[in-house]
Amino acid sequence: MLRPDGCVYLHCDAHASHYLKCMMDAIFGAAHFRNELVWGYRTGGVSKKHWPRKHDTLLFYVKSGAYQHNPLQERIYYDKPFFTAQQDEQGRYYADVFVRDVWEDIKPLINVSKERLGYPTQKPLALLERIIKASTNPGDIVFDPFCGCGTALDAAHGLNRHWVGIDLTVLALEPMERRLRERHGLVPKVDYDIEGYPTTRQDAMLLAEQNPHDFANWAVTRLGLAPTANSNDGGFDGTGKVLLWENSSAATQLPVIAEVKSGRSLSPNQVRAFRTAMQDTNAAIGIFITLHPVTRGMRHLAEAEGAIEHNGRRYPRLQFWQLTDTYFEAGLIPVNLPWQVDERPKAERHYGAEQTYF
Ligand SMILES: C[S@@+](CC[C@H](N)C(=O)[O-])C[C@H]1O[C@@H](n2cnc3c(N)ncnc32)[C@H](O)[C@@H]1O
Repeated sequence: MLRPDGCVYLHCDAHASHYLKCMMDAIFGAAHFRNELVWGYRTGGVSKKHWPRKHDTLLFYVKSGAYQHNPLQERIYYDKPFFTAQQDEQGRYYADVFVRDVWEDIKPLINVSKERLGYPTQKPLALLERIIKASTNPGDIVFDPFCGCGTALDAAHGLNRHWVGIDLTVLALEPMERRLRERHGLVPKVDYDIEGYPTTRQDAMLLAEQNPHDFANWAVTRLGLAPTANSNDGGFDGTGKVLLWENSSAATQLPVIAEVKSGRSLSPNQVRAFRTAMQDTNAAIGIFITLHPVTRGMRHLAEAEGAIEHNGRRYPRLQFWQLTDTYFEAGLIPVNLPWQVDERPKAERHYGAEQTYF
């Protein structure tokens, strides 16, 4: 896919980076290897059993000699004057030098970083901006086939480059949509297209067939819940908080868990297992999401769980939400609403949750 004048950056951690270098040499040719870039940083979590691992490696290859490189400069400050040093208004000595292959001026993301979206492997915007500025010009195309929460897309957009991103997991899409909306006002389907993400019931059924785990992740994140890492059938797939509103000034936050069943075989035993998971986790509300209708026996069990009273309203503790065509009719999938709540007025429920991944 790479144009003859294109280039490629690859990062993988130290367990595999050197193996991937061999692969890159085989694909692009050893003569087209340009740099090993080292991004060094300081974060907490230091081992005393080996050297603290505080750098990432990036391999830089080009497709041919026709590639683009815009050398970047950085300002280095010095304590003492020397022959090429200049002085700024505050009297500090500095020199503007070309950025070399060791980068120590880019801060890593930490938990409290403003930039942080909750995606586990998110990279700093400044890192992607540096790469894009050096290797492309405005109007060029940036393609990130492992784009995670879209840092490269965000950087490319901000620098007036076109962009395309791919990621394996549906979990990447919500933070990606969020950042493109918040930082650049971009609206999916209006400003950019999303492919391979369920937008019809049929798509959802296909995803469920191909990858039930991803389907479960998709279903819970669309509700604003966080997927649970290692769910198995006895557990549950999503967790978070549900907000019950009477009006904008009175909201109650309750713990909620969700279980997703994509198959046709639905039985009361599944509800019993889910009920146990609700008890074990002290969940106030459980949402049982299905693609197919639940049985009468399942309904009876759910009704026996009763409801939560809040500001004069009743919220069933164990709810069935069936994914029907109606859900998809609006065309765009809203992040949190509206799911068709089985036989219960959906207007009563507003879902929001702090989203964390893994
Ligand atoms: C290190 S993360 C990228 C993080 C990204 N730079 C960011 O700032 O969010 C690698 C990503 O590759 C994705 N991934 C893994 N295997 C993949 C595959 N075969 N195809 C596409 N994406 C894949 C993972 O889901 C993960 O989001």
